[in-house]
Amino acid sequence: MTGYSNAEPAEPVQPAGHGRQRRAVVTGAAGFIGSQLCRGLTSAGWSVLAVDGFTDSYDPTEKLLRAARLAREPGVSLVAGDLVQLELPSLLAGAEVVFHLAGRAGVRPSFRIEERYVRDNVIATERLLASSRAAGVRRVVYASSSSVYGDGPTPFREDAPPAPISPYGRTKLEAERLCLAAAGTGIEAVALRYFTVYGPEQRPDMGLRIFAEAALRRQPLTLLGDGSQRRDFTYVDDIVRATIAAADAPVSGLAVNVGGGSSISLLDVVELLRGLVAGEVRVEHRPAAPGDVRVTVADLTRARTLLGFRAEVPFAAGFAREVAWVRDRLERLERQPA
Ligand SMILES: NC(=O)c1ccc[n+]([C@@H]2O[C@H](COP(=O)([O-])OP(=O)(O)OC[C@H]3O[C@@H](n4cnc5c(N)ncnc54)[C@H](O)[C@@H]3O)[C@@H](O)[C@H]2O)c1
Repeated sequence: MTGYSNAEPAEPVQPAGHGRQRRAVVTGAAGFIGSQLCRGLTSAGWSVLAVDGFTDSYDPTEKLLRAARLAREPGVSLVAGDLVQLELPSLLAGAEVVFHLAGRAGVRPSFRIEERYVRDNVIATERLLASSRAAGVRRVVYASSSSVYGDGPTPFREDAPPAPISPYGRTKLEAERLCLAAAGTGIEAVALRYFTVYGPEQRPDMGLRIFAEAALRRQPLTLLGDGSQRRDFTYVDDIVRATIAAADAPVSGLAVNVGGGSSISLLDVVELLRGLVAGEVRVEHRPAAPGDVRVTVADLTRARTLLGFRAEVPFAAGFAREVAWVRDRLERLERQPA
């Protein structure tokens, strides 16, 4: 059972009536991507109910800072709460689209605390879907992941059999299947398979940020494996554009890849970093980590035809912006009194 059997063309959407502001709910709104999606939506004229449970997946101060900035944005209201516990139907009432980004991300910890991944990725999604349908939400856009492909043949095509190799990948696939199976039962659903997202505000547990912080502090970088593993890195602004486009794409019941359009090795990343920090970057190799796939490359045919998507930010430019953000952040932290 692939979960795609109910794929169906949906009617092109008529954006809500003249003068009526469109309402969206964004889950995971205090997260790396969710917070930037909220700003993208308000710039496009939506009003946004931003929900986040401030889970302990990484330092909650980072999430609280993003939430504090969001709370100052016109057009955003913020609700702090856990999707597994919140009284969802009243929260969702009046929303046209739910952008469901809340979840527990990250491959490595998923081998240790799988139950948290099941809870935040699968149970939360099941609950959100049932309440969204009951509340009359038109569409759910789900933030799925390239990790559903595991070490499958590249480029990854959405109609290839998924083969996740980590509990994280398995829980994202399970949640994606729940969403796609719900399509056609009174609600539309699209699952976007994001490929390694990067840029300013990136999560502190993600490789590019860890590399940038180490290089700027003149500490050695730890490379797991030989560094030849490749990733289709996707700049966060491109992800936000694709996600907003998915609200109105004439499709439901399908998964769609969203990738940056090139595949870069970690050794290439280190070379770029040497130029960006203008100095020596030392590398220490450790054994490859379980769940770490060799190569990710997105086939972007569906993204182009269904979302009208084309990545705009090349990796070198996007990574330079992330490194500049990391540098500013480290300098701010240094200026803070101990
Ligand atoms: N960052 C990437 O490269 C990437 C790649 C593929 C898929 N994704 C998916 O995109 C989404 C956003 O990723 P991110 O990198 O911004 O992660 P993030 O951890 O920064 O954001 C996720 C947010 O969800 C919230 N959350 C988790 N469980 C919740 C619950 N039960 N109730 C309410 N809120 C909850 C967390 O507090 C967090 O703020 C995730 O679902 C992730 O799996 C991310």
